[in-house]
Formats: sequence, structure tokens, C-alpha cells
Amino acid sequence: MTRHYLMCRPDHFAVEYAINPWMHPESGADREVAIRQWETLRSAYEDLGHRVSLIDPVEGLPDMVFAANGALVVDGRVYGARFTHPQRAAEGPAYLKWFVDHGYERVRDAAFTNEGEGDFLTLDHLVLAGTGFRTDITAHKEAQEFLGRPVVTLQLVDPRFYHLDTALFPLNGHNVAYFPGAFSPGSQEVLRNLFPDAVVASEDDAAVLGLNAVSDGVNVVINAEAADLQLELKRRGFEVIPVDLSELRKAGGGPKCCTLEIRGQNGA
Ligand code: ARG
Repeated sequence: MTRHYLMCRPDHFAVEYAINPWMHPESGADREVAIRQWETLRSAYEDLGHRVSLIDPVEGLPDMVFAANGALVVDGRVYGARFTHPQRAAEGPAYLKWFVDHGYERVRDAAFTNEGEGDFLTLDHLVLAGTGFRTDITAHKEAQEFLGRPVVTLQLVDPRFYHLDTALFPLNGHNVAYFPGAFSPGSQEVLRNLFPDAVVASEDDAAVLGLNAVSDGVNVVINAEAADLQLELKRRGFEVIPVDLSELRKAGGGPKCCTLEIRGQNGA
């Protein structure tokens, strides 16, 4: 049950460009508040007994705090990110270097555009993959081939939910919570077929990035404002740990965006 997460302190966090509808550079964001909120997230993981590793933040990369986008790590295999927007391009090599420096040998420098765990969510027997705004569908195939796990493509249609992890999160290895309106009709049907017992979230809860949550299978770390979703998770027997990441939401991110899960050991 113990998880290993990679995080990046928002020492250089800012909203100075707009690459998603949440970002308003004219209003900016308060870095000190963001750092305090991020520290509560990190402590929440440590209090749950999880291991948190840190990557050094790089000046000039204000979105680097969103570690989920840095890579996809399954069975110790590291599939590197290749960002859509030039403003974030340098984050891909920075995250890949962290894994190489920490002894990971099975590392793939992706040929196709993908934003790591922002668009790839791993369950026991498959990987769900978003496309439509950031990650190219060709990267879904590349990841499947590299990881040896089936990758299921899901089409995102609402620009507010530009990454898969803004619209869906795995509750455990075999079930998910999601907001249907973020997906095309065909992908909604795929989700209904795969997860008949899913937690279906409301638009209100999705609109506060309530689905950008992190579950270890027992505990769910989730944006505090997602009230109904929290009630439903409790009803299903999950422990709910609300966090306030409102300052990071000004860049379009929540708890999951700040968290890259490392599955499997280096050399595994
Ligand atoms: N400002 C960042 C971007 O638009 C936010 C990334 C959020 N990360 C995530 N995993 N959804 O790229």
C-alpha cells in the first residue's frame, strides 16, 4: 500500500502564460501561498506513510511543480514526457535526467508528444490514456509497446479538462471516479463498459478539479472544495483527506498534478 511519489517544490511557481483556460497571467498567483499549500500536500502523503522524493525546481519553469506531467513510470520503466507547449518543453529532459541520475535504466525518451501521468493513468491491468488537447494518440501506442501494458485511448472534449487527470482518477487498481462530460460519447461508453461501478462525479465537483485526486486504494487526497464527491467516496468506504491547493489551481493544477507516482524500483 505504500506509494512512492516524486514532487517538485513550487519555488519558481507563477502564472505568466496561459496554456489552459484556468490560467490568467493578468491576475497572477501568490508563490508563497502556493508553497505553503504544496507543503501541506507533501505532509499529507508522508503522514499516510508514503515515500516522497523531490526533484530540484528549475528557474524559468513555473509549471514544473506539476510533476505528474514529467513522466509515466510503470514496473520501473520510465516513459519520458514530450510537452505540447514550448513554455514547458525543458521539463521533459529535466525529469528524465532525475530518473537516470537515480539509477533507472529502462528509460525511454519519447518520440511522440505526451504529458506523462497528466494523460496516462495506470490501473492493475491497463493504462487509461487521454488525447484531444495535449498527448498525441501516437504516444498511446508508443507507451503500450514500451510498457507491455494495454493502453486504452479516451477522447477528451472539454478544454477545462485538458488532461485526463483533471477528469478521472483511479480509486484503486480496478475502479475509477470520473466526470462523463469531459469525454466524447464513444469514450463515455468505453468507461461505462470498463467500470460499471465507477463513481460518477458532478460538473460542480469537476469544476473545482475534484477529480485531480490521488488514491492509494484506501485514502483519497482531494481538493477540499469537492464536497459531494467526498461524501460519495466516504460512502464507498474511502478515507478522505481534503487539501487546499487553490493557489495552484490558478495554473490549472490540483493534488494529482503535483504528484508523479513511481511504480517499481530502479533496475526492476
Ligand atoms: N499549467 C499547467 C499546464 O497547463 C498545469 C498542468 C497540470 N497538470 C496536470 N497533470 N493536469 O500544463
